[in-house]
Amino acid sequence: MVTGGAGDLGRPIVAALRGTGLAVGVLDLEPADGPHSLACDVTDPDAVEAAVAALGEELGGFGSVVCAAGIQSEHELADLSPAEFHRVLDASLTGAFLTAKAVVPRMVSGGSIVVLSSGLGFRGMARGAHYAAAKAGLVGLAKSLALELGPLGIRANAVAPGPIRSRMVDGMDPAGIAARGGDAIPLGRLGEPEDVVGPVLFLLSSAAAFVTGAVLHVNGGMLMP
Ligand SMILES: NC(=O)c1ccc[n+]([C@@H]2O[C@H](COP(=O)([O-])OP(=O)(O)OC[C@H]3O[C@@H](n4cnc5c(N)ncnc54)[C@H](O)[C@@H]3O)[C@@H](O)[C@H]2O)c1
Repeated sequence: MVTGGAGDLGRPIVAALRGTGLAVGVLDLEPADGPHSLACDVTDPDAVEAAVAALGEELGGFGSVVCAAGIQSEHELADLSPAEFHRVLDASLTGAFLTAKAVVPRMVSGGSIVVLSSGLGFRGMARGAHYAAAKAGLVGLAKSLALELGPLGIRANAVAPGPIRSRMVDGMDPAGIAARGGDAIPLGRLGEPEDVVGPVLFLLSSAAAFVTGAVLHVNGGMLMP
């Protein structure tokens, strides 16, 4: 199952998983195209439990879950309202917590959870304290799930993309992106959504059977924490 599966990074992840022959559930505010796709607000505990229960029935349980739902906005501290702080934190971090809480009891041994963090969770983000805090929080969530669920044979990892060409990045202050700098990316370009697919699939696959609690940075070398 993929949350945020209608988004710019979610769509190619869903397509690649379906391409391997898997049945893939999708939860998103915007109902995505394709089978097993439900409209669901991942910040709503009852809605998440109901949607995951319905998909669990349809799919016979879950082998993998990718938490890619998230939103971003830019506000300097003085203009960052508590409501906006919570809105951004809830979509990414609370949403991943609620998703994991609903999915794990329906997950097979050998299951794998991947959360979409961000390089900004490591570097911080001027005008984005809420976003960076949510993305750093996801790393703590993944590591904690790795510790707690390891004995059940369930792995949990984070993928931390740098700037990926997408509406999330397109919507950002251009000066902010420039400051983060295409020039400062050793591989010399922004990422493409497809660049995130392989790392996610790797962490979900048996090739990563001994990898848990890890963060895989996908940023062209821009940040090497
Ligand atoms: N695009 C980037 O450069 C980049 C970089 C680092 C991390 N990320 C992270 O990767 C993930 C995907 O980003 P993207 O570029 O695909 O963004 P996107 O905006 O294209 O997709 C995010 C999706 O999440 C969904 N969503 C938001 N709030 C939701 C909610 N409450 N319930 C259900 N669905 C909700 C949206 O409808 C959207 O389809 C996000 O968590 C983002 O923070 C993106």
